[in-house]
Amino acid sequence: MEKFIVHGGSSLSGNVNISGSKNASLPILAATLLTREQCTIRRVPDVADTNYMLQILQNLGAEVERASGNVVIKCEKLRSHEAPYDLVRKMRASVCVMGPLLARHNRANVSLPGGCVIGDRPIDLHLKGLEGLGAEVTVEGGNVNLEARFGLNGNTLDMAGKHGATVLGTDNVMMAAVLAKGKTVINGAACEPEVVDLADFLISMGAKIEGAGTPVIEIEGVTELGGVEHTVIPDRIEAGTFLVAGAMAAKDTITLRRVKHEHLTSVIEVLKQCGCEISTTDTTITISKAKNPVGANITTEPYPGFPTDMQAQMCSLFAVTPGLSVVRDTIFPQRFMHASEMKRMGADIEVDDGTAVIKGVEQLSAAPVMASDLRASAALVLSGLTAKGNTEISRVYHIDRGYEHIDDKLIDLGASIERVPD
Ligand code: EPU
Repeated sequence: MEKFIVHGGSSLSGNVNISGSKNASLPILAATLLTREQCTIRRVPDVADTNYMLQILQNLGAEVERASGNVVIKCEKLRSHEAPYDLVRKMRASVCVMGPLLARHNRANVSLPGGCVIGDRPIDLHLKGLEGLGAEVTVEGGNVNLEARFGLNGNTLDMAGKHGATVLGTDNVMMAAVLAKGKTVINGAACEPEVVDLADFLISMGAKIEGAGTPVIEIEGVTELGGVEHTVIPDRIEAGTFLVAGAMAAKDTITLRRVKHEHLTSVIEVLKQCGCEISTTDTTITISKAKNPVGANITTEPYPGFPTDMQAQMCSLFAVTPGLSVVRDTIFPQRFMHASEMKRMGADIEVDDGTAVIKGVEQLSAAPVMASDLRASAALVLSGLTAKGNTEISRVYHIDRGYEHIDDKLIDLGASIERVPD
């Protein structure tokens, strides 16, 4: 295992290239199972989660080549329709092979992902949607078996859950419906840019999809899809994380390159409310620290609302912003593992019932802390940047699951971070 030692007090400036989106790459890689032909996916970030997904695809029979961000996949023949526990337990997003396997093979056997540190993450809506297309679902021995002996049939489905839409659930059903007979209407679909990117990929393969990016997606099934090349969208959460780094530690400005600011409207709005100056071009966002920083109240919501994947990072900013800030997570109300670690660094945070009330202090002080999940780890790195002393963050494998070389990118901006064996 490795840990980071983040030396506090450095200030950042310069440019950083944003990687391709992890959360767009994962379902797009799974969707390559829908064709026998070769697909080339560009800008796949080199992070542990995309590697897990490629292992799952190889296990299912895909041939995979990976070189500098480009992944070439050909799944001429499926060898298996099973995604075993060994692989699924490493990454919940493995469940998004269910839809493509059902569509291509009429069967899928996927281990049920277990509990997760950010809260209960059921897949009932995925299963409801796939059942609606005609799959029989049984759960046995920790595995979910899906079977559609006579193929899938289009249907009108309601995918909304009590916390709103489901991103990977929408993806799963969309990937199943593209090869189903007839028309599928997904009501209550997730509108996230990653869902749109998957739809764009499927459309280029020959699928007939309308309405992706809205709560109603209409799909007319086709009999076959072909191989294509696709470039995944920039990672809006990595970009948001670097914006918060800029808000906390920019000497003058930092500029994010290869980014789509329109995917970050809610994050940019909140950072502006906090006093940061932000300017954008088609492919860049530039941020400078607030001269008179103020806190804010944020509530996470499905896109285009404030993303749950950015709330931990905002807690880091608010921990050192004068005044009171409130962060409420309605999507994953238990996703506050970072708060107790930040308290060890002197943050004044009280969490109750999915809401963190944060009273800004002048400066955090370094302490040994433990990364618990991807975004919580990012929050600890951000806290370490401006803390007094050297913050040791253990279990950084969590951060390597979803951030491509975050330490190197921050070092290029002027941070002082060491990656050392733990
Ligand atoms: N939900 C259900 N039933 C379901 C599915 C979801 O009740 O069958 C609930 C969840 O418990 C949650 C809400 O619906 O309260 C939204 O969950 P969603 O299904 O949208 O989450 P996901 O698709 O499993 C993706 C991202 C997460 C991100 C969420 C929310 C990927 C690979 N993961 O997960 O990303 O937090 O959407 O935006 O796309 C991360 O990158 O750190 C991360 C956790």
